[in-house]
Parts: sequence; structure tokens; C-alpha cells
Amino acid sequence: MNIVILAAGQGKRMQSALPKVLHPIAGKPMALHVLDTARKLSPKNLVMVVGTGADAVRAACAADDLHFAEQAQQLGTGHAVMQAMLLLASAENNSATLVLYADVPLIADHTLARLIAAASTGNVAVLTVEMDDPTGYGRIVREGAAANDGRNGARDGNGAGAIVRIVEQKDASPEEKRVREINTGIVVFPTAFLAENLPKLSNQNAQGEYYLTDLIALAVQAGIPVVSAQPADAAETMGVNSKTQLADVERAYQLRQARALMESGVTLADPARIDVRGSLRCGRDVRIDINAVFEGEVELGDGVSIGPNCVLSNCRVAAGAQIKAYSHIDGASVGKGNLVGPYARLRPGADLGEDVHIGNFVEVKASRIDDQSKANHLAYIGDAEVGKRVNIGAGTITCNYDGVNKHRTVIGDDAFIGSDSQLVAPVTVGRGATLGAGTTLTKDAPADKLTVSRAKQLTIDAWRRPEKKPK
Ligand code: UD1
Ligand code: CA
Repeated sequence: MNIVILAAGQGKRMQSALPKVLHPIAGKPMALHVLDTARKLSPKNLVMVVGTGADAVRAACAADDLHFAEQAQQLGTGHAVMQAMLLLASAENNSATLVLYADVPLIADHTLARLIAAASTGNVAVLTVEMDDPTGYGRIVREGAAANDGRNGARDGNGAGAIVRIVEQKDASPEEKRVREINTGIVVFPTAFLAENLPKLSNQNAQGEYYLTDLIALAVQAGIPVVSAQPADAAETMGVNSKTQLADVERAYQLRQARALMESGVTLADPARIDVRGSLRCGRDVRIDINAVFEGEVELGDGVSIGPNCVLSNCRVAAGAQIKAYSHIDGASVGKGNLVGPYARLRPGADLGEDVHIGNFVEVKASRIDDQSKANHLAYIGDAEVGKRVNIGAGTITCNYDGVNKHRTVIGDDAFIGSDSQLVAPVTVGRGATLGAGTTLTKDAPADKLTVSRAKQLTIDAWRRPEKKPK
């Protein structure tokens, strides 16, 4: 089987310098969603027709299994498929060609598999849906349909007449405009039929375009059965022509993911207020509060809870951990039973052991923090190795950067770092050491001892407050 993905259109209504098919859905260009789905069908030839912004589209989609055909001028969907034919020529003669649109990103592989099955005996198969408001779409004209006030059955083998042609909105008669069954644009043709009939298309129509849809009437004339299939979910065939539709498709996609999460047992405070831009794997009894954003690959263990307004990117959160409101976790590993946040920031390379507490306004980067250690308030821990049961006081900073190079801080098990300490790296705090509050540590602190660097406190008995001078 061949798959041709049409991606040449301009997308004027997007009002953007970015080619339409590169606008993201769930953080990924929509053309890549369509490619991923296409690949699930293991096509023999996979071709994308590019035109507007061709270089950018090629760069974003390039892969060994994908060939590009260029359509320099957008003369219509039939003309677009014609540009791909040279790349399909080597295909065996009785193969079929599936046409997809790069701006219809939610189409599901199981729907396409059904459409392909419907075409398997050399039929033409059109994916159709019934719409309350079909304005703008090509209408499916069936035998005897004109007589029934446009309410045709729309289902093959359901008493509905055979498909005779597709008429575009701009070419439709008032009667045809009342038909609510529309062409989604997704079609399967026998490849040999395409090769023979695409050159016969004319552009004598309201839009002066070569319509792929005119091939339906040609198939009927040639005695090739034209059948239809319908998507499992109408949202699959939503197209993107504007930013409003982009947002509609994004919401439909997110709702689909939210439902899948709930079906797998995840508790969502509100399925309309979660965004997954990548993949989210969850264990049992995971709870996710409102407005969480997940990016890249995220894994949440059993019993994890995510508070409101958290952003988690490419990270792992182990069983039982609680991430509280407004935390930002990127490229980090959160250990079992950790308490993180509210307002915590874990950056790439933060690696937390079990039962670690990271509190408000604490930032951790490229640091291992071992079991049961705590940094509960206002701290920066970067390029550090922190042992077990360490207490890091409020305001502690690892001074890891000298303006040129980064240096490491090592803190042994059971150390106690007094509040407002600065650890000027490279520096080591021994096991069980205590740093007095306000210490600026520039040399290693020995194990089990109190180290403090602080100006001695003194009181000046004779001191008087200045008084306001009389005018
Ligand atoms: C097309 C169908 C219509 C269907 C509708 C579904 C035709 C003639 N009409 O209409 O029956 O209901 O889709 O959305 O096929 N494209 C190219 N090159 C071109 C023209 C289009 O690559 O020269 C691509 C576009 O980028 C887009 C797709 O083909 O991905 C559809 O093009 P569009 O102009 O949106 O078709 P419609 O007029 O909406
Ligand atoms: Ca369209």
C-alpha cells in the first residue's frame, strides 16, 4: 500500500510565517502526527507532497522512509496527488493508495485500517462523516438521494444508495448543499486507477482547480465500486485552517488523552484542564490536580499526586511522591515518597533519593540528594552531592560557578547546614559536620565538628541613636 500525505497548501488563514502543517498539536508539528499514524499502517511507499514552505516542511519531517514530491503551485488536490505518482510508479499494479491530509492530524490508525479494508477488493473507499453544518465541505452524492430532502442514509449497506460523485461546496446545487454527509478528504484508490485517471481531470469548475474528488464519478463510470467508511470518532477528521481550529483540535486531542488516562485509573481533577505534550505513563492511584502540563516523556509511579499548576518535563516521579502546587520539574528524577514544592524547581540532573523533602523556592540542578535529606526553604543546590539525612537550612547556596567554570560541592551524611550559608565550591562538608548559620565556607569543613565563619557579635554599650537636629 502507498500513502500520500498532502501538505502543500498555504494555510493563509493561520496568519503565520510558519507553514500550516508545522503548527504544533500537543507540542508536535501536525504533519508529524499524521506521519506517525501513517507509519502504523506499514506502507510500502510513503510520500509527502510539499509546496508552501517546502524547505521547512522537509527539514521537520525528513526520514529515511519518507519521500517528498514538490507541488510548486497549488492547483488542487488532484494536481497534488499527481505530483506524487512518479514516486509510486514502482509499486505493484494491484496496490492501493491512501490519501491523507497533513492538516487533519487526529485521524486514527484503526479508522484508516477499516477504510483500507473497505477498499481491499479494488474498490474506491471514501471516509465520510455526517455533519449538522456541512458548509464548506465536498458533499457525498448518492443514488436516489436527491429525492429525500438531503437526509440520505450515509451508511453503506444501510439502505443508502451507492455513491455516485462528490460535489464541492462551490459547485453544489441548492439541493446538493442540503446533503449532510461530507467528504473528509481521506480516500483510498487503486493505484493503477489513479495513474490512468488523474491526467483526465479538468479544472473547469468554480475554483479552477484539479479536484481529486472528481475521480469518484470517473470510478463509477469505469464500473469500480465506490464505498464509504466512517471514523470511530468524528473529532478524528477535524481539519486545521485557522488558529481557532488549531485550538479546537488541540482540545479534542487533549480530551482524548485525558479520557485514556482516566480509563487507565488516573484521577483527574478536571479532564479539561490537563495538557500532555508527549507521553505520560502512570502507575496505580495517581492523582493529578488542575492545570498540570506534561512535556516529553514523563513517568509517575503508584500513588503519586501532582498539585495544581505544575509543569513536568522529561522526568520520573517514583511511587508515593507528592508534587505540590506550582512546581516545575525538568529532566529530574524524584524518589519514592518525596515531598516537593509548593514552588519548587528541579532542573536537569536533579536526582533525589527516597523520602527527600524539597520545599518552597528551592532550586536543584545536576545534584544527587540522598535519602531523607531536606531542603525546605529558599535554597540553590547545583553541581552537588548531598548525603543521607542532611538538613539544608533556609537560604543556603552552593556557589558552583566562578564566572568561568562550574565546581562541585560534596556534603556528607548527617551534615547540618545552618541557614544562609554559602558553600564556595569546590568544597566538602564532612559527615556529621555542622555549619553555623551565615557561614561562607571556602575551605572543607571537617566531620562531626562545628564550623562557622561569621564576624564576632559585639554590643556597644555607649552607643546612642542619632537624634534629629533642631532647625
Ligand atoms: C477538500 C475536498 C473536499 C473535502 C475537504 C475536507 C477536494 C477538491 N475537496 O476541500 O471534498 O470536503 O477537503 O477538508 O479535494 N492541498 C495541496 N495542494 C493543493 C491543494 C490542497 O497539497 O493544490 C492540500 C492542502 O494543504 C490540504 C488538503 O490538500 O491539506 C486539502 O486542501 P483544501 O484546500 O483544504 O481542500 P478543501 O477545499 O477544503
Ligand atoms: Ca480544508
